[in-house]
Amino acid sequence: MNIVLFGPPAAGKGTQSEKLAKELNNFKISTGDLLRSEVKKNSSLGKKIKVLIDKGELVPDSIINSVVENLLADKKYFNKMIFDGYPRNLNQAKHLDVTIKKHKQKITCVFSLTVNLDTIIKRITGRQVCSNCKLTFNKFFNPSTLDNHKCDSKFLEKRVDDTEDTVKSRYDTYSKETAPIIEYYKNQKILYEINGMGDISMIYKEIHHIISSLHT
Ligand code: AP5
Ligand code: MG
Repeated sequence: MNIVLFGPPAAGKGTQSEKLAKELNNFKISTGDLLRSEVKKNSSLGKKIKVLIDKGELVPDSIINSVVENLLADKKYFNKMIFDGYPRNLNQAKHLDVTIKKHKQKITCVFSLTVNLDTIIKRITGRQVCSNCKLTFNKFFNPSTLDNHKCDSKFLEKRVDDTEDTVKSRYDTYSKETAPIIEYYKNQKILYEINGMGDISMIYKEIHHIISSLHT
């Protein structure tokens, strides 16, 4: 099944997608991660993307939509996609609907994670991402330990866009451009609103329970 997770910065999209992808043997498709790897290449496209990410603005739909279209056309990902941070506005949501139909698939469910701005800032301050295995941790809420992480702590990095200023701008972008998609998916009757303020494992349980109850 194909699943969409969306929510403001630090809502837990990446954390929950990692867990789902592992358990369902699906693929986490994070447009943020894909864009950051283009930035790392220091290509001319990467340089343009970096300016927008640093300002907390969205990258043009044309770039994102074509990346996603290529993935949807790839048999490896057929009905096995967990979208983390895509779609991000109404235009992307409509494009996804058209493209996914073209490739004889559908979105089974959409999870909207809600979190308040104070929590977002605290989470952003503590976030650490492993540059080796790509797993996400948090100094305060979900520290890397010998039990949950096999790589050396030297690989733990802070994201360059994890500053208080950028996160406030990302939050504004979310409120203006992404939140309106909630109605779009409510109308399709595939939206599930999840309180993202709870414990990571409790939120996962809730999402998992909903997925298990769906007959696809
Ligand atoms: P993206 O990388 O998607 O950033 P974001 O939406 O701001 O979301 P984050 O990755 O910051 O948060 P998350 O919800 O994944 O939280 P996480 O699980 O890591 O996008 C970055 C930029 O790329 C955008 O600003 C834009 O410029 C561009 N972009 C991306 N997609 C685009 C698109 N489709 N179109 C156009 N532009 C696009 O958790 C955060 C922290 O909190 C972690 O440390 C985690 O351990 C911790 N945590 C998670 N859950 C909990 C919990 N329940 N309790 C306590 N701690 C928790
Ligand atoms: Mg993320």
